This record gives sequence, structure tokens and C-alpha cells, in this order.
Amino acid sequence: MGHFGWTRFMTIIASKATLSFDDNSTPVSLPVYESTIGPAGIDIRSLYAASGRISYDPGFMATATCQSSISYIDGENGILLYRGYPIEQLATQCDYVEVCHLLLKGELPTVQEKKEFEANIADDAMIHEQMHFFFRGFRRDAHPMSILVATVGALSSFYHDSLDISNPEHRALAATHLLAKVPTLVAMSYKYSVGQPFVYPRKDMPYTANFMRMMFSTPSEDYKVNDVLVRALDRIFILHADHEQNASTSTVRLAGSSGANPFACISAGIACLWGPAHGGANEAALSMIRHIGSIDKVPAFIKSTKEPGSHARLMGFGHRIYKNVDPRATLIRETCHEVLNELGLNDDPMFKIALEIERIALEDDYFISRKLYPNVDFYSGIVQSALGIPSSLFTGIFALARTVGWIAQWKEMMSDPDSRIGRPRQVYVGPIRRDVPPIERR
Ligand code: SDX
Repeated sequence: MGHFGWTRFMTIIASKATLSFDDNSTPVSLPVYESTIGPAGIDIRSLYAASGRISYDPGFMATATCQSSISYIDGENGILLYRGYPIEQLATQCDYVEVCHLLLKGELPTVQEKKEFEANIADDAMIHEQMHFFFRGFRRDAHPMSILVATVGALSSFYHDSLDISNPEHRALAATHLLAKVPTLVAMSYKYSVGQPFVYPRKDMPYTANFMRMMFSTPSEDYKVNDVLVRALDRIFILHADHEQNASTSTVRLAGSSGANPFACISAGIACLWGPAHGGANEAALSMIRHIGSIDKVPAFIKSTKEPGSHARLMGFGHRIYKNVDPRATLIRETCHEVLNELGLNDDPMFKIALEIERIALEDDYFISRKLYPNVDFYSGIVQSALGIPSSLFTGIFALARTVGWIAQWKEMMSDPDSRIGRPRQVYVGPIRRDVPPIERR
């Protein structure tokens, strides 16, 4: 059964909100738009004109910057939906290419649609040969995210066939270029760091197996596909594909709102994802586990993260929206078991330390009272390490997987009638107007 992607932009005013002031200023009436699920939205666009006041919400704790129909998080109940489908079903019944089709087009593909979609991506996975020269400018120990920020942005200097963002065909072509070429660039950044030759993508291999071959194949030994390990990485891609208006997605949308080309927007998203409070947490979580080093040192470390004023955090724990277990963490923990079992690493000390951290933290009032649970980044480093992926590349893998979500959100923004250049306001608390004194009187 064929489907077409759909995006319903909110038009239904559920009710009105009245904002009153205790200084007898005129109350302001604001429309409230209903959602399909989750919180309704109070439209405050008329607030400043009506009251001379603006809202104040650093970090967007309670502010929607857009309307979207791509993914939905119920943080209280630990639920994540992609276009309405529960992440648990997608991660166990679909592969990443099907999920890419779902996120980009609004529906899961039929057998024929999937075949065409995957072939279209496979045909486009090579990068312009001249881009290889970019890598020689980097030190061999350059962080892969620095290489990805640079090379993904540089795609715009090669693929002029997809830079006219007002042209839907260009937008679709840019989406294919990015879905197809980011894995190639991620694998190349790894090969460059280990001094091995780049491995070209193959058209006759499925998406994730192709990536693993580009990562681990060498001229002296071809990569032997292990279906359990490929399936595990494919599931990690699915679990990282999209997540509402997180920091990096919001960065992509803000960059896109100025009319920047899609490659530059995704490069901006990669830069934001790099931060340890966001996508960099998977790398930080594994180095934290390695730093703890043994199960008997777990209680002391956890204690150190609770001390008032302590900047130490339990990396891979906590989330702005999930106030229950991140469903992705549960699925990645299961994947961890499968991979370690397949590789005969059931006694992996890092995994045992991670399980002990989770056990102790979930019984500790500090974490319970703050609703801090394992998030997507807590176990993903252990799985990726077991797959042979270096910790410096973990966030690059996250960027690879999230590229489809960033593109889907960017495309949705481009077709949103409400979309305009993002330009937040501020509450100014600096000096009032004053005149410049001559230097001898300063
Ligand atoms: C991702 O947004 C997304 O959807 C992101 C993401 C995605 O898919 O795109 O899900 C991916 O980024 C997951 C998060 C990865 N980051 C980490 O694991 C880093 C560790 N976690 C934290 O830095 C923190 O929990 C955040 C950044 C995730 C959330 O920060 P918030 O919502 O701004 O919460 P906060 O910093 O205000 O913390 C509230 C309280 C504070 O204590 P008090 O001041 O109330 O005493 O909880 C404490 C914090 O000190 N706290 C932690 C903690 N996280 C919060 N204490 C110890 N360890 C932690 N991890």
C-alpha cells in the first residue's frame, strides 16, 4: 500500500489563555493551539505588541519553537514515537533504511519503495575524489567531529545541484547526498586516524554493512560481515535517528531559517552535537566508566557527583525531557548483551561497571528525586567499543544516525507556513545609556 508523507500544521485553536498583570496593565488574551498528543501550545507571538513584555525561557524549558509531526517524546512515561510508531517496534521490526524513509516521507516503505530508496542512496555514497585532499590538511589525531564539521560543510562546494533550497527537487537531492555521503565521511575520518587507506562504498551492500566494511576492511583483509554485529549497529542508528527539538536539531533549524544551504545546516548540527552535554556524552560516559575502573570504586564516584557545587556528572544520566527511563537506553542495554554474547565478552568489566552504576544510582534518592535515569548515551559507548569503534568516533556515529532526523526536521521547517528566521529576544540587564568619557577622565 503506497503512502505519501503528510505534515499537518496546527490550525485548530483549542482555547484561549488570558495573561493578567498585578500592575493593572491590560490583560492579554492568547490563542492556545491543540496538539495531537502532548502539551498544547500558547501562541505568544502577539505578547510584546499587546503588553510591551516578552517571555523569558532560557534553555527553552517550556517553549515550542515550531510545530512538528516527526517524533514525539512522553518524558514522564518513557515513550518515544517516530511518526507515531513506538521506538521499541521500529528498533526490533525495521532496519535503519526503513526508518529513514519513515522520517523523511512520513510512512514506512513498501518492499518496492524500500528497494528504490536504498538503491538511490547506495548510488550516491561516493564523495567527489577531490574531497580526499581535505583530509591531508588534518593531523592524524584530529578529533573525527572536527573533520566531520569541516567536510560535511564542504559538501556544499561540490554539490551545487542541490543548493537551491526553494526548489523541492534540490531539497530532496540534498537529503539523498547527505544520507548517502555522511557515512562515507565518517568512515574516512576513522581510516585517516589509523593511517589506513580509504575504503570506497559498494552499491551491492546494505547501508549499515556497507558502513562497517568502509570502517574495517583493509587491502590485506576484507571485512567479514557478522549479521549480529551489523544488526546491533543498525539498531543504534535507529535509536539515534531523531528526537524532537534537541539542541543539535534546533541548531539545524535555526541555521536553516536564515536560508543557509542544507550542508552548512547539518555541519552546524554536528558542531552542536559534539558538546559533552549532548551527543558527546557517549564518549564521556565510557571514559567515566574507564576512569572508575572497578565495581568497588562505583559508590565513591557516584558520591562525588552528588556533592553540592560538584561539576562531576554521571555522564549518560539525566535528560531534559525524560523523567523516566529513556526507552533507547533500555534497548541499547539489550543490544549490549547481544553483542557481548556474540563476541564472548559477557564478562566485559566495563559493562559490569555500567550495570553497577545503574543499579546504585536508581536506588539513590539524589537521582530518584531529580528523576535522573540512564539516557541513550549511557550504554552506547560500551556497545560501540565492543564493535571495534574507537571512543573518539562515538559522537560521529551519533551524527551519522541523526543526519536523517536533522534533514527531516529541516525539510519540515522549509515547508512550514509559520517558519521565519529565528531571532530570539533578550531581557537586557546591562548599563543604561551613557556618554563616552575622554580617556584621561576614565
Ligand atoms: C542527549 O535533548 C535531547 O533529546 C538530547 C538527546 C538526543 O537524542 O538528541 O537525548 C541526546 O543529549 C542525551 C543527554 C546526554 N548528556 C549527558 O548524559 C550528560 C549528563 N547529563 C546532564 O548534563 C543533564 O542531565 C542534561 C544536560 C542531559 C539535562 O540537563 P537539564 O535538563 O538542564 O538539567 P539540569 O542540568 O538543570 O540538572 C537538574 C539537576 C541539577 O541538580 P540541582 O541543581 O537540582 O541540585 O539534576 C542534576 C543537576 O546537578 N543533574 C545531574 C545530572 N544531570 C542533572 N547530577 C549528576 N549527574 C547528572 N548526569
